[in-house]
Amino acid sequence: MTQDASATAAKKLFIKTYGCQMNVYDSQRMAEAMASEGYELTEDQSQADMVLLNTCHIREKAAEKLYSDLGRLKPLKAERPDLKIGVAGCVAQAEGEEIVRRMPLVDLVVGPQTYHRLPAMLRGEAPAILTEFPPEDKFDHLPERRATRRAPAAFLTVQEGCDKFCAFCVVPYTRGAEVSRPVDRILREARDLVARGVREITLLGQNVNGWHGEGEGGEWGFGRLIRALAEIDGLDRIRYTTSHPNDMADDLIEAHRDIPQLMPYLHLPVQSGSDRILKAMNRKHTADQYLRLIDRIKTARPDILLTSDFIVGFPGETDQDHADTLRLIEQVGFGTAFSFKYSPRPGTPAYDRPEVDGAVADARLQELQALLNRQQKAAQQSMLGRTLGVLFEKPGREPGQMVGKSDYLHSVFVEAPEAQIGDLVQVRIVESAPNSLRGELVG
Ligand code: 5AD
Ligand code: SF4
Repeated sequence: MTQDASATAAKKLFIKTYGCQMNVYDSQRMAEAMASEGYELTEDQSQADMVLLNTCHIREKAAEKLYSDLGRLKPLKAERPDLKIGVAGCVAQAEGEEIVRRMPLVDLVVGPQTYHRLPAMLRGEAPAILTEFPPEDKFDHLPERRATRRAPAAFLTVQEGCDKFCAFCVVPYTRGAEVSRPVDRILREARDLVARGVREITLLGQNVNGWHGEGEGGEWGFGRLIRALAEIDGLDRIRYTTSHPNDMADDLIEAHRDIPQLMPYLHLPVQSGSDRILKAMNRKHTADQYLRLIDRIKTARPDILLTSDFIVGFPGETDQDHADTLRLIEQVGFGTAFSFKYSPRPGTPAYDRPEVDGAVADARLQELQALLNRQQKAAQQSMLGRTLGVLFEKPGREPGQMVGKSDYLHSVFVEAPEAQIGDLVQVRIVESAPNSLRGELVG
């Protein structure tokens, strides 16, 4: 490379994303914003001119990862003092300047609602620590979507924040109050993604099914939004995450019945199967109400695969409460689920409540995960012999192999030497491995 060429070469940006899919989306948008400053993404941290850590605050372990990763960056920063280090996401929001106090090597701290100002922060035209909830909408100040990577499946944030205030959860504090993006912006972004080759969109929101907005003919609910998206030519698959049971409105359940592009998959966190604990968690529904909701959803879409989140060892949880949770899991039958040991989060209502003994919580978590693992295996086994759509997302482990997601979001490995990324093919499922399926092309 000549000297001139290296002077104009793009600067390299390394982004590490922790936590949820919302963060994955935000990282993409931050990368797009930084492209206007001449940065392009690198997978190699040691080559980076800037390292951006997009953090998660949901559990203590997730938050602590930031500090261990920053510790590991010290030698790189010592070697290359020009290296910029930024912290984004929910730890940035929650801890703000405390991060710089604890780790002076950090140059920038930016919360989830202010990252459109990253380029200005980098140029020194905005404060180096920005964690307010600004009056302007960041989406109005971000560049239009660009395909940063060729990928047929994309995320699209339609809603942010949460007003539910579950007693254990930091989201209402780190992400703020519920805000729905307007219909026209969402449809425009979706059409734009499809024009760039995207065939599957996952709509994101902390409480995505609480989305509402002013559309043609008046106020739209989330089901109506999905109907409008399904009219976009070339958008073959629609998914959404994550939902609250109390916002599963009739029009959304009907969308699962009527709209073939809406995939037969629903992540519907319940957290616990005990009414006492659900009440202490401020979930505002009972186990029975959840079960009746599931019945209605299954009536609308009998083959739907359900997944959920569970918290084990919430303050006050007894053996009986735990048994109630196991019974609910047995009754529903989940395709898979995330389960976590309760982690007290500063600032949340449950923070000061007496904790369940750690060993007891560990044992309950193991028991619950063993049951969920059995259900996951059974759900995968039930796919054997079936012919399903699979959208190829990348090459598989072996030459000539592709991997993609089935309608039910299982990873499926397929021998398909002629196929391209972005092909949506029919596959007969022939084998179930621990975390994936294997299938053969049909026809
Ligand atoms: N401790 C453990 N798990 C938590 N979650 C949220 N807050 C906590 C916490 N304090 C889990 C919930 C939620 C998922 C995203 O993370 O199950 O649905
Ligand atoms: Fe947190 Fe979800 Fe409860 Fe909102 S609904 S407070 S995001 S767990």
